[in-house]
Amino acid sequence: MHTAERLKKVPPYLFMTLRNKINEAKKRGVDVISLAIGDPVDPTPERVVAALAKAAADPENHRYPTDEEWGMMAFREAVARWYGRRYGVGLDPAREIVALIGSKEGCHHFALGVVNAGDTVLVTDPGYPGYKPSIWFVGAEPYPVPIRAENGFLPSLSDIPSEVARKAAAFYLNYPNNPTGAVATRGFLDELVAFAKSYDIAICYDNPYSEVVFGVERLSFLSAAGAKEVGVELNSLSKPFNMTGWRIGMACGNPDIVGAIAKVKSNTDSGIFNAIQYAGIEALDNCDDFTEKMVEIYRMRREKVLSTLRELGWRYEAPKGTFYLWAPVPKGYTSAEFCEYLFEKCAVVSAPGSAYGVNGEGYIRLSLTVEEKRLEEALQRMRERLPKFEFA
Ligand code: MLT
Repeated sequence: MHTAERLKKVPPYLFMTLRNKINEAKKRGVDVISLAIGDPVDPTPERVVAALAKAAADPENHRYPTDEEWGMMAFREAVARWYGRRYGVGLDPAREIVALIGSKEGCHHFALGVVNAGDTVLVTDPGYPGYKPSIWFVGAEPYPVPIRAENGFLPSLSDIPSEVARKAAAFYLNYPNNPTGAVATRGFLDELVAFAKSYDIAICYDNPYSEVVFGVERLSFLSAAGAKEVGVELNSLSKPFNMTGWRIGMACGNPDIVGAIAKVKSNTDSGIFNAIQYAGIEALDNCDDFTEKMVEIYRMRREKVLSTLRELGWRYEAPKGTFYLWAPVPKGYTSAEFCEYLFEKCAVVSAPGSAYGVNGEGYIRLSLTVEEKRLEEALQRMRERLPKFEFA
């Protein structure tokens, strides 16, 4: 059977490849510890699970969740309350919010709703592996915008050639940044809005790590003046409430883009199970303390990993966001070689920076979403089995 040409450009999804590698090793009896995917191992808050159970028992929720095309109004109102409380951002639930099956889906539907075949779309490099396929699927071409340590892993907007910016239809970016952990500043967000306005570029600001910051301000793109004129912010309940498996998120901001995403969605899926939306309301309204507690847990895990890395010779200032550490690889290794070495020596799985774009070469990504005991075990293996490294 033939398959579509468009799939030829798309590599297998990074975390599927890593999952296969983990499963094969487990079959061979290897005690693998994965610090690869960012998938919180800690449970969803109990009250959210209880809200799901209650709503799932109501036959009214067993029908298509299509009463409201953009997601349940009650869910969208909860999103608006959360954005108001956490980020000081005002949103109109009727025009500026659409419920999503996770923010990854939003990346894809944003492209379908906003980008034409043949368009150029800016995307940070390194960047989340979901962006480029979304761009390719609509027949557009990604243009990589490098983000580098010397600029705090923020794109230097003035270095984007003006002929490229003029033809760009959209820009995908995310801060707190996956994979680097970098955070944005208010100054950068203002610059981004001005850049988008002057070149008529639609911003897809993917912000699922908005809550996971250490000692710096939590920031929404939508808090920048004029942001709603130029783009949307995708967010998700996955990371703040340990709900990756539940698949629930939202796109917020520019009403035309939100409407375009809603139109794509109503012609693609039939919405999110209402019981999950009720559980989402519980999370958004009543779990701020839970999120703060999780961030504290990540802060402690991060310190532990950084301390082991320092013992082994690493000297670098880790950025202040996400539950990832983006660590430079020691002298003499590519990122893929170092991941393999770590796996062979310690049975610890990490993500190679090169999988995130050419500018990701020279780094590995370690995720902190693993139980305390397993993390301690991984770090102990590293301290016992690895030499002290040198860095370029
Ligand atoms: C990550 O590890 O980058 C994400 O959580 C996984 C994903 O979104 O596919």
